[in-house]
Amino acid sequence: MTATSTTSAGAVDYSTKIPNNINLADDSRVLKALEQWHPGYIDWWMTMGPEGFQTSDVYLRTAISIDPKGWAKFDYVKMPEYRWGILLAPQDENRLVNFGASRGEKAWQEVPGEHRASLRRLVVVQGDTEPASVEQQRHLGTTAPSLYDMRNLFQVNVEEGRHLWAMVYLLHKYFGKDGREEADGLLQRRSGDADKPRMLGAFNETTPDWLSFFMFTFFTDRDGKMQLESLAQSGFDPMSRTCRFMLTEEAHHMFVGETGVSRAIERTCEAMKAAGIEDPYDIAKVRALGVIDLPTIQKKANLHFSLSLDLFGSEISTNAANFYNGGLKGRYMETKIEDDHALTTAKYPVLKFVDGQIRMVEEPALTALNMRLRDDYVKDCQGGVNRWNKVIEKAGIKFALTLPSVAFHRHIGEFKGVKVSPDGKLLNETEWAKMRDQWIPSSDDGAFIESLMQPCWERGKYAGWISAPKVGIDNKGGDFEYVKIHRA
Ligand SMILES: [Fe+2]
Ligand SMILES: [Fe+2]
Repeated sequence: MTATSTTSAGAVDYSTKIPNNINLADDSRVLKALEQWHPGYIDWWMTMGPEGFQTSDVYLRTAISIDPKGWAKFDYVKMPEYRWGILLAPQDENRLVNFGASRGEKAWQEVPGEHRASLRRLVVVQGDTEPASVEQQRHLGTTAPSLYDMRNLFQVNVEEGRHLWAMVYLLHKYFGKDGREEADGLLQRRSGDADKPRMLGAFNETTPDWLSFFMFTFFTDRDGKMQLESLAQSGFDPMSRTCRFMLTEEAHHMFVGETGVSRAIERTCEAMKAAGIEDPYDIAKVRALGVIDLPTIQKKANLHFSLSLDLFGSEISTNAANFYNGGLKGRYMETKIEDDHALTTAKYPVLKFVDGQIRMVEEPALTALNMRLRDDYVKDCQGGVNRWNKVIEKAGIKFALTLPSVAFHRHIGEFKGVKVSPDGKLLNETEWAKMRDQWIPSSDDGAFIESLMQPCWERGKYAGWISAPKVGIDNKGGDFEYVKIHRA
């Protein structure tokens, strides 16, 4: 994924209104288009961004370079003044189209006419997820369990805002009038809105509490990672370069999610031990300690995992085949895979629902690309779950978190509408209804978690349900004043 030769040193120009490393100052048409889009963006940020903290000083990182060793600087910033910029990974003059029918051609610097509609679609769908998550998370600041966590939330939010800029740049630069219209549309849809919802299901769900936020950044931002990884393989070079830099930031989002859940688990185990509770299923007793019981954490994981799996789309997809064949969207780690990168004859095993049974079926690999990316995603998730389980194990509590079956609680693809238990057994409606609340958070679970969501904004203090981080951000301690709160 690293460039073999680079054309720009990677310094970011902050002299224009829109910081960038793509010589925007010399591209007056695009600069003007983006400057015209800017006020609408700020308007969106003020009305749909983090509620109540727009005047607070937040210790944020801002990208100042694309050099992997020193790309960010940290300082106090009021979020509406954040320098959202357009940053692309350096261009590699020798880069090729690495898969599909055009494999071996020089990577495209302009949009090939025949792929214009498909590419625009890919940019818009990715772009739509970025502001959506900011909207979903906008109420969370008020219940932040610490200043450290509050800062992490806002960091994720401003970077999702930057990712929107990244996609809007592609629309303005490469897609003419319809690109401009799509860029405006990205500011008009709203997460969960009945008339103008965001494009994908998981981005219209609510993020009601901090455990949901951590699960979202672990599971759903990780879907984002997988999508960006496959778009980073694109033969359309500006798309590839844009996504490669986004991935740098995305890693932090998943860190926030993984460590957030991990700290909740750690606190629960610690409280159970201190109270002499051995049975993790003694839910009433555990909850009385003011911590989230492990079975409820499992339910939250079940929910967010299944919603995120839906984001991969149908297991069998001719769109995915066309995107691949066209050289637009590759596989995870495409260039590391040893095969023909054309998939003309290859097969891939797909889990399907056939004749009332869950079965593995060999399908043409080309149409099974969504399934393959999802498999890579599941492996990546499993790594994080294993690390969570180490925390439980270390505390000496007999409990292990698991990823539910990919057939569990699905709304898209093969298992849409099929009732399946987390361990992959087919159920009838009655059996499902009886067990549902054991597998997915019930309204009681939601109310309990909500009762714990009391703000804890004192410097160096953490809410009772979550432990302090091992290390802070930017080598600061857990007691650093990550947010200087001035309520709007
Ligand atoms: Fe993002
Ligand atoms: Fe993200």
